Amino acid sequence: MTAASPNNRPDIADLLAFYASAGVDEALEDQPVNRFAEVAPKPAERAPTAAPAGGTAAQQRSTNRPEGGDRPNAPPVLRAPSATVPDEIQAALARQLATTATTLDELRQHMAAFDGCNLKATAKDLVFADGNPEAAVMLVGEAPGRDEDIEGLPFVGRSGRLLDRMLAAIGLDRTSVYIANVIPWRPPGNRTPTPHETEICRPFIERQIELVNPKVLINLGGPSAKTLLNTSEGILRLRGNWRVHTTASGIAIPAMPTLHPAYLLRTPAHKKLAWRDFLEVKAKLREVG
Ligand code: URA
Repeated sequence: MTAASPNNRPDIADLLAFYASAGVDEALEDQPVNRFAEVAPKPAERAPTAAPAGGTAAQQRSTNRPEGGDRPNAPPVLRAPSATVPDEIQAALARQLATTATTLDELRQHMAAFDGCNLKATAKDLVFADGNPEAAVMLVGEAPGRDEDIEGLPFVGRSGRLLDRMLAAIGLDRTSVYIANVIPWRPPGNRTPTPHETEICRPFIERQIELVNPKVLINLGGPSAKTLLNTSEGILRLRGNWRVHTTASGIAIPAMPTLHPAYLLRTPAHKKLAWRDFLEVKAKLREVG
């Protein structure tokens, strides 16, 4: 790229605006990395095929060869250098940390000290929870967005304001509910968390539910419902029907899957469905006292 001049500065501003609108709003490294320069060596440039330390030539070919390499003229496909933390080990560590937390404060400390989820590297803050830990109702969303990351609290942006109005409609507010997310760190650019990230974070939210021990759980959106209700059904089929979330110690908590406020902002015609779900919650709270 040439140095910025009065002529190309607007292009740079346009490019940055394009990145921002595409959700690319985090710098991961101090220095830029030119990924286009990381091409796999052409066959003639490859090292001779003597069996290297760590495996036979055949084993090396099967692990190092770019995808498509079986076909003679296939272009090399780049494999990104793996920056991910090994998932199984981290999920096991998360499980151990979660089970050894005996209070919500301890759980928050364990999560803040945990480095096993890559999302932590790009998030500004841990978004642990908001509301009343003694509440009868606990709501669980998917993952924090930009506003939540900045404030360190769940549901404080546009969808949070809608959620507050939905709660108020059944006589609740943040003093009478407890709110958390399946994923406590903002995924960069608000991308969907990967299944591995969800598995790594799952023990924390499960323990958080167990420690709060609410009378009623509300799953906001499909990812929360799927993760915590052990189902692969879509949210439009799930919503409105009582399910059960069973904690590790075997406590059965009635759970109402409903539509995520961010979805309702995009699809206001479905607000009436969420309203019905919230009325179900209100009735259940009367029933369970
Ligand atoms: N969406 C979520 O799922 N959680 C938040 O905290 C904010 C938006």
